Amino acid sequence: MKNQRIYQHRRDRFLQELGSSAAIIPAAQLVTHHADCEYPFRQNSDFWYLTGFDEPEAIALFLPHRPEGEKYILFVLQKEASAEIWNGFRWGVQAAVDHFHADISFPLCDFPKKLADYLYGAENIVFRIGKHRKVEPLVLKVWSELLEKSSRGDSVPLALTDPAVFLHKLRLKKDSWEIQRLREAALISSNAHELARDITRAGMNERQIQGVIEKSFLDQGGRGPAYGSIVAGGKNACILHYTANNALLKDRELLLIDAGCSTNDYYNGDITRTFPINGKFTSEQRAIYEIVLAAQNAAIKYVLPGQNAEEIHLQAVRILVEGLIDLGLLKGSIDSLVEQGLYRHLYMHRTGHWLGLDVHDVGAYRLGEYPIPLEEGMVLTVEPGIYISDLTPVPEGQPSIEERWKNIGIRIEDDVLVTCDQPDVLSSNALKSIDDMER
Ligand code: GLY
Ligand code: MN
Ligand code: MN
Repeated sequence: MKNQRIYQHRRDRFLQELGSSAAIIPAAQLVTHHADCEYPFRQNSDFWYLTGFDEPEAIALFLPHRPEGEKYILFVLQKEASAEIWNGFRWGVQAAVDHFHADISFPLCDFPKKLADYLYGAENIVFRIGKHRKVEPLVLKVWSELLEKSSRGDSVPLALTDPAVFLHKLRLKKDSWEIQRLREAALISSNAHELARDITRAGMNERQIQGVIEKSFLDQGGRGPAYGSIVAGGKNACILHYTANNALLKDRELLLIDAGCSTNDYYNGDITRTFPINGKFTSEQRAIYEIVLAAQNAAIKYVLPGQNAEEIHLQAVRILVEGLIDLGLLKGSIDSLVEQGLYRHLYMHRTGHWLGLDVHDVGAYRLGEYPIPLEEGMVLTVEPGIYISDLTPVPEGQPSIEERWKNIGIRIEDDVLVTCDQPDVLSSNALKSIDDMER
């Protein structure tokens, strides 16, 4: 397993962060789609980050309070021909040690009876409450039994902490291997966007474009879409999480595509492009597109060490607001409109989020009052937009919207790496100039 040393390095850091706390990190379960059919398996990102083990049900223990050789324990589904013939290969207990470098491995069914011994002597338990339906009752039962003992002076864990405290700051900063994976995800996603724009014509169904994009992800070796692809023609673009993708594409309307590929290592792209279906912007569409593009380019310039997500958002908002004032769609000074949020009927989301193993990746954005400063190796999206529809009421005192602007929804989204030098736009192969959007 050539990548195992990457996971080993992460485990070493995690064990160090844990101090004398014992962590229980479960894998994901299969999720029912309907009847006895399941969705394709998607590993829990925390578990994946630490193990590289891509099977459901497993549980990893990280035990810094135990001696060498007992610090990383994997409970896994046993090899079983009758199950594997239906659902595919399992690594099994021996391979968890030989291939995935667990110190010790046990069959999953041993977890309830072994857990107490492994938790004994740890100061705290590190486990995410509310997420692991099957494992949580077992953990709480074992813990409460240990607490019973503590009244007799035993050394048992006294508090429960969320793994985010220890793990998510590690996941927030990407190393060079992760950056390479994110670059691949962004490249595959960019290529798919380019292809989609090429083949889009009025009269097609949104679903056909979704098919082209997602086929392209698979053709290029990706695992599939990182999230429900948004293929939104005309007014559908004003619905931020539109995923119905089943309307006809019309002449003189725009198509907004928000789609990204997930790689086999679960790293994600998240790209949005918006372009005219017939290859030519109307003057209103062009005017809005120019504003969003200017806001995005200005915001990307702020993706630098020492800056922060709040500042990036503010840069984008100020340019959007300025442009909308110029077009008569907002009224007032930039400062007062921004301060009072009087632009939010036209721009109602934040300008970006961390990107990594989760599309909306883990990691804090602020610590109390203080925004987290960007550091080299962090990756985030920059995705301003303008959405003009009747869905959100115009605030009192702001101009009512003429029909010619209605149902224009435009977002432009790139994936950007913080470097010590200048912002590195991982998704730059997806074009976005006005000229590139037209044909
Ligand atoms: N595609 C989800 C997002 O842009 O945040
Ligand atoms: Mn995004
Ligand atoms: Mn997106």
